[in-house]
Amino acid sequence: MKIAIGCDHGGIDLKETVAKVVRELGHEVDDQGCFSEESVDYPEFAKAVCAKVQAGQCDRGILLCGTGIGMSMVANKFSGIRAALCQELFTARMSREHNDANVLCMGARVVGSGLAEEVVRTWLTTDFAGGRHLRRISMFSS
Ligand code: RB5
Repeated sequence: MKIAIGCDHGGIDLKETVAKVVRELGHEVDDQGCFSEESVDYPEFAKAVCAKVQAGQCDRGILLCGTGIGMSMVANKFSGIRAALCQELFTARMSREHNDANVLCMGARVVGSGLAEEVVRTWLTTDFAGGRHLRRISMFSS
């Protein structure tokens, strides 16, 4: 898969760790920034990643900010985007199995790099269960 990754200054420390796991799993990274620790506005980067997923240029997206909250709020404004804020393994797995999340959000000030790696690994290797969950998703998302 091709995975769009975006962050703000609060998430930048985690971005390379996340990109490394994505590549280790055999996927391609499309880095949408930011590229320095200078203070930036997270909605811009959420928008860039979601646009890639909406256009079908990337299969999924990963967004990192300080808490993951701002990124998830913005991402879920975009049609067809099902963004999940996952800071541990259970919701990472369920967001895929039950919600077919296509954008993962995490907070670099909340999760350490070891946990973040496992969250990404779980999220990228768990399939959507379909069935009744597809019916529920189709009630609110394209
Ligand atoms: C930036 O200081 C911080 O507000 C941002 O990274 C994020 O946590 C917002 O939800």
